[in-house]
Amino acid sequence: MGFPQTRMRRLRRTEAIRRMVREHRVLPSNLIMPYFVVDGEKVREPISSMSGQDRLSVDLLVKEARRVRDLEIPAVLLFGVTEKKDCEASEACRDDGLIQRAVRALKKQVPELAVICDLCCCEYTDSGHCGILTPAGDDVDNDATLELLAKIALTYAEAGADIIAPSDMMDGRIGAIRDALDTEGFPDVAIMSYAAKYASAFYGPFREAAGSGHFHGTRKTYQMDPGNAREALREVALDLEEGADMVMVKPALAYLDVIREVSEAFAVPLAAYSVSGEYAMIKNAAQQKLVDERMIVRETLTAIKRAGADMIITYYAVEAVEKGYLKD
Ligand code: PBG
Repeated sequence: MGFPQTRMRRLRRTEAIRRMVREHRVLPSNLIMPYFVVDGEKVREPISSMSGQDRLSVDLLVKEARRVRDLEIPAVLLFGVTEKKDCEASEACRDDGLIQRAVRALKKQVPELAVICDLCCCEYTDSGHCGILTPAGDDVDNDATLELLAKIALTYAEAGADIIAPSDMMDGRIGAIRDALDTEGFPDVAIMSYAAKYASAFYGPFREAAGSGHFHGTRKTYQMDPGNAREALREVALDLEEGADMVMVKPALAYLDVIREVSEAFAVPLAAYSVSGEYAMIKNAAQQKLVDERMIVRETLTAIKRAGADMIITYYAVEAVEKGYLKD
């Protein structure tokens, strides 16, 4: 039946009715809050490329993590930021390295929170690449990097990480990491794979945040081409076969179609990463009063969930819950 018997506006008349018929909403439990961790004590360094975000030393990270827990956000995602870089990312493998210490402190002091460790070499290599370079130095050596990733993953698991999230896009890394975890007695540590990670300009502000700003090469030989969607399904299928427990699409807003396709093709928990560039675009526009921050954050997070994501990694997680952006 069409108009005038049918009037779509009847169900939009009042806020009460709109709430009743709303199909998708974002809950605090859908969110994951990323943090950048630095050495030292009582260190809080504002990240100029991402207004409102800071690099934190472990003591202040623990304080923030209590806030995250109290807001009922279930998890944090950790990135280490260090000046100690070399060709084999040795700082990432140390038992008492930055992330390892952060994980121990969090698991001891805020045990309710799930701790996810981003696993990648780019914050620790002097090349700024996500793995070890080939002898010729012109590309990342896939298989040599696998060994290193497995080694770093073990130190994170040893420290108490709940979930390891490899973001390097090497082939075979999920299998290598799963093998290492199972062999060394960590069968319960989960893997969230950055399965469909695109070579994206939206990572721009992250480079400053994570101190990989000197990076001049290209990640296009390992991260995906933005023109491809089918390929994302192959990446996800391979990672699941190798033992991934959850998969991710990254970035989020420019890849909602990919989120939708992955969510329809695979019955596994799906994360979407709303990355630094998405955050910075919205934050800067809001600060210039070009957009209503509350509405735009709510609208974009809802869109990512509506596309099919179960979990959303967003730098807005704490602000969105604390300021009630997601409230009905
Ligand atoms: C490291 C990594 C990056 C991001 C997450 N992990 C940068 C990159 O691959 O260039 C980006 C996150 C963001 O932009 O918020 N491999």
